[in-house]
Amino acid sequence: MSNSIRVFAPASVANVAVGFDILGFALDKPGDEIKVGFSDQQGLRITAITGADGKLPLVVEKNTAGFAAQQLLKHLNKEDIGIDMEIHKKMPFGSGLGSSAASAAAGVVAVNALLGYPLNKQELLHFAVLGEQIADGAYHADNVAPSLLGGMILIRNNSDLDVHQLPIPDDLYAAVVHPDVEVLTKDARDVLSDQVCLKKCIEQGGNLAAFILGLMNSDFELISRSLHDVIIEPQRAQLIPNFYDVKEAAVTAGALGCSISGAGPSIFALCQGEETGRAVGQAMQSVFSRAGIENQLYLSNINRDGAVVL
Ligand code: HSE
Repeated sequence: MSNSIRVFAPASVANVAVGFDILGFALDKPGDEIKVGFSDQQGLRITAITGADGKLPLVVEKNTAGFAAQQLLKHLNKEDIGIDMEIHKKMPFGSGLGSSAASAAAGVVAVNALLGYPLNKQELLHFAVLGEQIADGAYHADNVAPSLLGGMILIRNNSDLDVHQLPIPDDLYAAVVHPDVEVLTKDARDVLSDQVCLKKCIEQGGNLAAFILGLMNSDFELISRSLHDVIIEPQRAQLIPNFYDVKEAAVTAGALGCSISGAGPSIFALCQGEETGRAVGQAMQSVFSRAGIENQLYLSNINRDGAVVL
């Protein structure tokens, strides 16, 4: 591998309680790393995957990072260039932490950097979403966009990828606990009804708008009053053991709000300040631990950088 480039792309929390498929933020850690370099053999090859227990395919077309990078190369008319890619998974998949999105984001950023930055990050987004689409069949950017661009992202429209950075209060922290159970995004999407009652739609719309206003004004009380998912969480809570106990523990320990991270099973809580975040995270963990469920806590500020060349 020559001229090699290494890229880190962070985990992300999608939906953020009030924005199913249209809201997401990036974490400082964990994240995936991808290394690419030129090779003498024509075309893109995935030469190694670590940290995935053999569960991820080496076949480019079936791999989120590989497919995303391949679509980018196709767009640039550079499919014949010899490129080797190594994928180093540093977070669990099927976790609700945007693992496949992080790989897709890292894949396109790495190949773009190797080729001398022909596109900017905004232009890379479409290709990363195509990669992520392999994982659950849907074209949505609520994990990919924060993982690629960083920050708290609002997606006005997934088809147009009309994405916007929202302001983030400095003191906003996320405690995310991953219980050691697997929930596949596809299964978590299949449980959802395609009907939403008008009353709940109005409630969720009010919460989403007020949450954004809370971010804009660093109004933590408004953020707290707004972080309630009345549509998706009630349908998915059954997929996560002890969900409501964990949520209650988070709120009792001082969280602004708590809900399912992406499609689960990870659960996130937004908090004011790192100290509160740690206490909230530990309270959430202790519920899982008491139930005999292995778990990990990720405590993080909101990551503003997204995918970066190391
Ligand atoms: N918005 C997506 C979902 C995120 O909740 O299904 C997971 O890919």
